Amino acid sequence: MSPCLRQEVVPAEPELVPVGRQPYRDAMARLGAAVNVVTTDGPGGRHGFTASAVCSVTDDPPTLLVCLNRGSSASAIVHANRVLCVNTLAAGQQELSDRFGGRVPPAERFEAGKWQPGVTGAPVLLGALASFDCRIARFVEVGTHDVLFCEVVGLGDEGAREGLMYFLRGYHALRGASSD
Ligand SMILES: Cc1cc2nc3c(=O)[nH]c(=O)nc-3n(C[C@H](O)[C@H](O)[C@H](O)COP(=O)(O)O)c2cc1C
Repeated sequence: MSPCLRQEVVPAEPELVPVGRQPYRDAMARLGAAVNVVTTDGPGGRHGFTASAVCSVTDDPPTLLVCLNRGSSASAIVHANRVLCVNTLAAGQQELSDRFGGRVPPAERFEAGKWQPGVTGAPVLLGALASFDCRIARFVEVGTHDVLFCEVVGLGDEGAREGLMYFLRGYHALRGASSD
């Protein structure tokens, strides 16, 4: 057979059905995450919100990311201040999570908990599992959210041993196995 008569079988492209928002949210509920109260202060004023969408990017320079809904009341204030502190909650601090998660108006959120300014001026929560005081290096828009790339300029750790996880839409205490 001459080469020009050979029939090529081209595999059909699989048809990708878009994943809906609710099935995506249901699947993400299975991805357990630490719970953080993210705070800010500066020219835009003081504010705070609960966030589980926080993770490390690199340790050189020490950088983490936070995903922030642009529709939230914190968005414009975080943009104005360009600093934030990620306060990772310890077991037993779920009341603070609900408070900063929208149950209490922004002006009243700091009435619970003990706070002191970090090196950036953002409020650091005393008794948190860990705190990461940051300068925001970059904002990247993705859909409804901004991804905030934050350079860590201060750390806090008072030795708490039990963390707080959000998993399957509920809070769970997580005990550390080792001594450090
Ligand atoms: C457990 C938990 C995790 C959350 N994670 C995020 C998050 O990663 N990013 C975000 O923008 N909002 C997150 N939220 C929602 C915000 O905390 C909430 O929208 C905000 O505090 C509402 O503030 P506002 O009423 O002042 O706009 C989370 C809420 C809870 C309870």
